[in-house]
Amino acid sequence: MSQQPASGMKLPQDGVAWEELAAKLDAMKTNDADWRRGRLPSYTYYVDDDLLEKQTEAYAKYIVENALGAGLVFPSIDQMQADIFSMGFDLFNAPVGAGASFTSGGTESVFQAVKTCRDQARALRGEPRGNFNVVAGINAHPALDKAAQILDLEVRRTPLDSEYRATAAAMEAATDERTIMLYASAPSYPFGLFDRLEEISDLALRKDLWLHVDACWGGFISPFAKSLGYAIPEWDMVLPGVTSLSADIHKFGYAVKGASLIIYRDAAVQKYEAFEFSDWPRGTYWTPTFGGSKPAGSVASAWAIMQYLGRKGYERATSDTMKATMDLISGVNQIDGLKALEPYGEGNLFCFVSTDPAVDIMAVADILEARGWIRGRMREPLGIHQGVVASHLPFVDDYLGEIRRAVNEVRTSGKLGAFKERTY
Ligand SMILES: Cc1ncc(COP(=O)(O)O)c(C=O)c1O
Repeated sequence: MSQQPASGMKLPQDGVAWEELAAKLDAMKTNDADWRRGRLPSYTYYVDDDLLEKQTEAYAKYIVENALGAGLVFPSIDQMQADIFSMGFDLFNAPVGAGASFTSGGTESVFQAVKTCRDQARALRGEPRGNFNVVAGINAHPALDKAAQILDLEVRRTPLDSEYRATAAAMEAATDERTIMLYASAPSYPFGLFDRLEEISDLALRKDLWLHVDACWGGFISPFAKSLGYAIPEWDMVLPGVTSLSADIHKFGYAVKGASLIIYRDAAVQKYEAFEFSDWPRGTYWTPTFGGSKPAGSVASAWAIMQYLGRKGYERATSDTMKATMDLISGVNQIDGLKALEPYGEGNLFCFVSTDPAVDIMAVADILEARGWIRGRMREPLGIHQGVVASHLPFVDDYLGEIRRAVNEVRTSGKLGAFKERTY
């Protein structure tokens, strides 16, 4: 894998006519994945055109402002962030005294949790250069490893149980005196299943370790799936051992991208979160998180959409999302030679594998992809990784028909496919 090469384009001498550029922007999308018609399993979280219009309007109202100036020149951005934090505290059962930051996405929220924990550990242990480790299941999102690489920490990944969940026992076995954090997923991106959070929370309390819960994918699905009657385990600040949690508003919170929440049980730790620097020719430069200039439109869209939808709106979107998920799972299970990994039903992600040696699941994925149904691939076990969004619901039958045809084609042709290393 390498960086994207340049195209050779030069800045035009004279500006290009706007009509031409607008038409080109539309035309360039021709070969992109068709997110409007259920072809894309992640990246986009499209619900319907009404929501898209409101997201666009909210974003556009703050297209010029910069969230870097929130506490200085744009008090309205401060106010919106404060409202978002309060709604987040309520949704995720944060206690009085909790603190939060608004970040650009899951990766930055995870980075902030790890950085805050590391800097606290360095301060409390009196080891300003101390190299510590973080213990996580092998299902943890690579955002953790990215943070650890930058922050000079070791990540110890532990095996999962037979239900693809990280357990307290495996985590405990991997800890030592250099461990500063346990990291668990709610749910994990590979399997869409929750780690054994109650026991991991107990372990964190018993060992006095920071527990971060990564709910970047599921944070804005789980509370609503739970009120709709789906069996969602306890995962948020209700568990006393949870020190911080991350939940992306730009996924199923339906904000425009560039919106995530990191919540800390105790706002006091945030002194280790912020960045402050004074040793230059100007005054003190301070940012609450990693980013500098930040799109205020993302804050405005999060603030507006959370209220526009309210609990009822989120429940409606979650109901469609979960129905599409469950219909897809039962449809896949009715196709001879395929099986959805069990358990399932804790959210809008599942994986399916081949049960027939004559059906190469990667060849099935190749055929689906050639027909525009972009699928994620799983290496272990070899399978198809399926994220589901609300707008998939009307396309469930089309998709199941395509899968059925692809399976038959692979079975009769003996076609073989291969795992694609670069995944999402
Ligand atoms: C569980 C989990 N954590 C972290 C991330 C990273 O989020 P982002 O792509 O917004 O940086 C994702 C993205 O899918 C995720 O599913």
